[in-house]
Amino acid sequence: MSVIRSVVLGCGAYLPDNVVSNDDLAKRVDTSDAWIFERTGIRRRHLARDGEVTSDLALKAGEAALKAAGVGIDEIDLIVCATTTPDETFPATATRVQARLGMTRGAAFDVQAVCSGFIYGLSVADNFIRAGQSRTVLLIGAETMSRLMDWNDRTTCVLFGDGAGAVVLRAETGAGSLADRGVQNTQLYSDGRLHDLLYVDGGPSSTRTTGYLRMQGKEVFRHAVTNISAAIQASADAAGVSVSDIDWFVPHQANQRILDGTARKLGIPAAKVISTVADHGNTSAASVPLALAAAVGDGRIKRGDLVLLEAMGGGFTWGSALVRW
Ligand code: UT7
Repeated sequence: MSVIRSVVLGCGAYLPDNVVSNDDLAKRVDTSDAWIFERTGIRRRHLARDGEVTSDLALKAGEAALKAAGVGIDEIDLIVCATTTPDETFPATATRVQARLGMTRGAAFDVQAVCSGFIYGLSVADNFIRAGQSRTVLLIGAETMSRLMDWNDRTTCVLFGDGAGAVVLRAETGAGSLADRGVQNTQLYSDGRLHDLLYVDGGPSSTRTTGYLRMQGKEVFRHAVTNISAAIQASADAAGVSVSDIDWFVPHQANQRILDGTARKLGIPAAKVISTVADHGNTSAASVPLALAAAVGDGRIKRGDLVLLEAMGGGFTWGSALVRW
């Protein structure tokens, strides 16, 4: 039976040029390169400069993805931007990007699922495409997490960075089998009871301020390995494959120890796990497409490969997506 599949035509990425090393941070708070690297695997992060906003990053990643896909802006009928750090409380950052790309038709909106934002956005885009409402979608994950940091809190400010990644998805007809190119399935979860483990202590409706990110890191870590492992297994089960049949794992880049712990739990060889955490830290909704763009760009992920994307973040939210490249 023929089905509509959301096929990835190209991806792009953008990191601000302002690179901040662990040693740079050790001048601001009581920390060290040794502590940060051993506990997280992070070496450096890119931080947006004053005046550089999320839509600036999103625009550059979006343009790169359109170029890689060979798709003109006139072909895009939907822009979805996953972000938890919009330029303004409203309108959606996606509409800022829409205007700057010169797109004058279709629709643009944001998705807010914090670090799981790209997986949520992919699920939304895939459903729009499979329902026939959109044909070609620009999906962006873009963040300026530096704006949510309490720069006196060493337990959080060393972990996060700024960046953006994007993909272009297009409806193509498949045979309804695992051999089809495109998104095979997406799995989304949330558990609002876990709010207090990871949140921002401000917002327009509560404090009328932006607020700062607050996290109980150890607890988040514990849930991350369990939830991400379950989400990966759910995607494999839904497709009728075993985890060992998957060629590449592209995780949310929060902490190398979470990547290692999840791989160990599921028996995944480290060589199949794409890791870019050393170079940009936790960029929230941008981290999965940044890692994806790196692995596609250097030729590791190739057409026909089975690729598993996953993430977990505040909410809690978490999820996975299985994609035939
Ligand atoms: O995107 C999803 C959301 N985020 C995550 O997935 C993050 C999940 N959590 C983690 O990645 C880890 O829990 C952290 C990296 C945040 C922390 O690692 P940990 O091994 O759980 O360390 P800890 O919180 O137990 O802290 C150990 C020690 C503490 O000192 P005491 O109490 O043992 O004396 C901390 O005060 O390390 C201290 N510490 C630091 N020391 C130097 C905490 N932050 C720092 C720091 N530099 N930046």
